[in-house]
Amino acid sequence: MLFSAKIDLAKRMIEPHTKHNVVRLSALKEYFNDQVEVERMINSLGDLVVYEYFENSFGDEEENVNFGLTVLYPGKVGREYFLTRGHFHEKRAAEIYIGLEGEGVILMQSEDGKVEWRPLEPNTVVYVPPGWGHRTINTGNQRLTFFFAYPSDAGHDYEIVRRKGFAKLVVEENGRPVLIDNPKYRT
Ligand code: PA5
Ligand code: MN
Repeated sequence: MLFSAKIDLAKRMIEPHTKHNVVRLSALKEYFNDQVEVERMINSLGDLVVYEYFENSFGDEEENVNFGLTVLYPGKVGREYFLTRGHFHEKRAAEIYIGLEGEGVILMQSEDGKVEWRPLEPNTVVYVPPGWGHRTINTGNQRLTFFFAYPSDAGHDYEIVRRKGFAKLVVEENGRPVLIDNPKYRT
């Protein structure tokens, strides 16, 4: 199918899209290190939207490229910045991220537990290699918006990250993001 899509940063979306997912704090409880603080935030501030994404998805069909736009809002749970769940792709497949607005990072972890992070900001392209789990983190005060594209038959595996997390956390220290060991990580 031949088509083009328009990114509208003011409206925070890509048009057309086949999928729009909104992820709130309550759905991310187990992904943050301080779950008591998440609960406290939900009770005092309500169930905030942490991120949403719009995707042109071809299902699990081979040969195409799924692509879309993610908007990750600013915020923190204690010292830990707002984040996406993160996942591995079921099939070893690379993914491209392009920063459009805001300041953030991509945290990546190889199958054997090596962790790397790279800035994600306007005009930055990050190449996530095949086999690396990935999560994005908003380390700024504005929304972090980025474009992503990956092979349509890659699939998503959310289970590994949900159960084990990433080996490192991105937290604020003296106003700057730093990488620290995840105290709850098990190999
Ligand atoms: O495939 C990707 O990496 C992105 O499209 C993400 O799915 C998107 O940013 C949302 O993050 P997650 O899938 O970890 O909830
Ligand atoms: Mn991905």
